[in-house]
Amino acid sequence: MTDQGHDELQPTGVADIDREHALELRVVREVQAALLEGNREKALLLLARLEDVTNAHFLTEQLLMRLHAYAGYEQHEQEHDVLIRELQALSQQLSSGAPVDARLAVHQLEHWLLSHMATEDHVLGEFIRQSPAHTP
Ligand SMILES: [Fe+2]
Ligand SMILES: [Fe+2]
Repeated sequence: MTDQGHDELQPTGVADIDREHALELRVVREVQAALLEGNREKALLLLARLEDVTNAHFLTEQLLMRLHAYAGYEQHEQEHDVLIRELQALSQQLSSGAPVDARLAVHQLEHWLLSHMATEDHVLGEFIRQSPAHTP
């Protein structure tokens, strides 16, 4: 269902990030289940929750990036912006009443979160763990 190597939650080794990733993933699973049930109303409510959780999480990461003077801040933040827009597009599609391919939406959500965690967040986690300002 997912890109090879991106179908498992990859820990970054930074406790705050990993705790929030686990929460995001739980909500993603709930959205996916609602989509597959064909329960559009429930999926929309859960997507709104996912957007809240994700916005809060992105702020956590962006704060950590500033705290540790992360050189890749801008690129990482831009990717966060793209991810939020993709999430909003799915919500709009669902709320418009247009037909939605549930399996495709489930697949997109899977890729949406996990590939970012496995790439940008993985690199960020490694950087933070090696930062002198990091307290595990
Ligand atoms: Fe991130
Ligand atoms: Fe993240």
